[in-house]
Order: sequence, then C-alpha cells, then structure tokens
Amino acid sequence: MPVAHSSPARVTQAFASTADVAGYGGTLDPSAALFHSKQYRIVEQLGEGGMGTVYRAYDPMLERDVAIKVLKSGLPPALRQRFLAEARHGARLCHPHLARVYDLGIQLDTGLDWFAMEFLEGRDLETLLRRARAKRLRLPTRLVGIIFSHVLGALQHAHDAGLVHRDVKPANIFVARRRGRDVVSAKLLDFGVALDRRRDEGRTDICGDPRYVAPEQILGHASMDHRADIYAAGMSLYETLTGWHPLESVIEHGTQALIDAQCEGELPCLAEALPRHWSATVRTRLDALVRVACAKDPAQRFASADQMRKALKLALRPETC
Ligand SMILES: Nc1ncnc2c1ncn2[C@@H]1O[C@H](COP(=O)(O)OP(=O)(O)O)[C@@H](O)[C@H]1O
Ligand SMILES: [Mg+2]
Repeated sequence: MPVAHSSPARVTQAFASTADVAGYGGTLDPSAALFHSKQYRIVEQLGEGGMGTVYRAYDPMLERDVAIKVLKSGLPPALRQRFLAEARHGARLCHPHLARVYDLGIQLDTGLDWFAMEFLEGRDLETLLRRARAKRLRLPTRLVGIIFSHVLGALQHAHDAGLVHRDVKPANIFVARRRGRDVVSAKLLDFGVALDRRRDEGRTDICGDPRYVAPEQILGHASMDHRADIYAAGMSLYETLTGWHPLESVIEHGTQALIDAQCEGELPCLAEALPRHWSATVRTRLDALVRVACAKDPAQRFASADQMRKALKLALRPETC
C-alpha cells in the first residue's frame, strides 16, 4: 500500500515555523506564583453521606463533568480537618480504582469547603444491593469477583501509601460503568475518616460504621492497622455475595448489640447462605475466606489486601461455580 509522505519543502517549513516561535516571551520567573479563578457549574445532587453532599458539576474550562463533594456546614473543626485530609489523600493517591481528586477550595459567598474529583457514572454498591434485594435477586458472582478484586487492589495501594481507610462498606464502593460499554470498574470512595499512619501515629479515635468495623477499631486500639480494612472488606464481601449483611438479625437490636457481635459473635455460615446449586467446594472456600478476613484477631486475618484478592480469585475460579 502506498504511504503518503509530506513533501520535503513542507517539512522544512513546519520545522522553521516551530523554531520561529521559540524567540517569543511568556516565560515565568521561577519565584512567581500563579493565581487563577475557577468555576464549576452544579448540575445535580448525586449522593449524601455523613460528612458531605456530593454533586455532579461541569467544568467549562476543561469541558468535562466532575463530582464536587461539599462539607456540611457547622461541623466541628476536627471534622473539617478530616475533610481537607480526605481531599489531600485523594490528590496524592493515583490508582485506577480510586477516584482522582482534582481541586480543593472554599466557596467565597458561603464559606463552604469543597473538593472536585473524577465524576463516576454508575451506582454505589449499597444502592445496587438494595435494588437487587427488592427484586429478590443477587448480584452475579462474576461481578462480585470483579468488584472486590478492584477494591482490594485499591486498598493495597492505599495501605502501601500508609493509609488505613477505616470505612470500607458497600456505600463507599462505587460500581462505575463506562457510557455505552459493558465495562465495570469499581472504585473505593470516601477517605473521610482515613488514618495516615505516618502522621497520625497512635491516634485512637473511634470511627467507622458499626456494621463493618473490626473489633480493634471499635475498642480504639492504638495498634489498629490496615487489617481493620480487611475485616470490613470481608463483611462487605459476605453481604455482596448473599445480598444480606451477616449480622442482619442483630442490626435491629441497636448499636451496642452490633458492637458486641463484632467483638465476640460468630458469623453465620456463609456456605449455608449461598445458593444450594453452587458447588460445595466453592461455598466452603468462600466461607473459609470470609472467616479468615473477619477473624477477631488481626493476626489471624490475611496479612494484606493483595493476599485476600488472590484468595478470592482462587475461590471463584470460573470452572468451579
Ligand atoms: N466521584 C463520584 N462520582 C459519582 N458519585 C459519587 C462520587 N463520589 C461520591 N458519590 C456518591 O455520593 C455518595 C456519598 O459520597 P461519600 O464520599 O461516601 O460521602 P460521605 O463522606 O458523606 O459518606 C456515594 O455513596 C456515591 O453514591
Ligand atoms: Mg461515604
């Protein structure tokens, strides 16, 4: 096939015009600061959590949608510091299964703190589970495998950066779908209560969601580490596989009952809760996996999120279920 080449004269001319512009001004003094004003147009509310409200917005300069998280007003200063830390963690971490943070600011007329991040299309896992339950359906096992493989990859990345998320749960897992394509990418959201082990050494504040929180996190142990996230990922995985929270029967008895169950109660057998037509081997493997992830003693859990991800991949091998 003939290949079209530019004529030698055109190439010489193009290089010459590039060389011409080299002499123009516009360079910056190395000590200069750049000031810039930025506008985001709010389009709609996307979600609301404990600390903030998340909106879809449009950035007319870069011509793209973003998600803007706004801190609720009137919260104590310590929570504002957490919010700022959340934005900074998001800006520092770069991983395909974490939402990138682009910008952080204060709205001039209201004084509200906000940050802008990658806009995701899809639904959080809590919403997907609620909808599936209402239709008496379960999420397809292959999808569950993909979601948790992504989330555990993101967790490993955060842990390697010295962060413990401390709030892993379906509401903070986003199942993003690319427009017009059937490609699913799960993203771990909400580093709002994350612990930076390099800065917050010894901090023992109690936080998280009692439905997913590890015993050492509830008890405020100073030794709490990334394995608390593995526990919460195990609880979330159980719920995602079966459609029901493993401590569903305890939740209605209130927070203290839930906390007692996290610290001392036994998880109901996952193998029994999975469909009978699944192979007994897969059910037993998944049951063992969740028991290791949710062991009361962190030393008995998977040592890393990566280890748990590999165990899940093995347990869900396509030929076995
Ligand atoms: N980047 C995003 N793109 C689209 N929706 C998002 C995004 N971030 C959050 N959301 C939605 O907003 C909800 C609350 O966000 P989250 O960060 O968990 O806030 P909170 O700290 O208040 O819990 C999420 O469950 C999700 O539905
Ligand atoms: Mg949240």
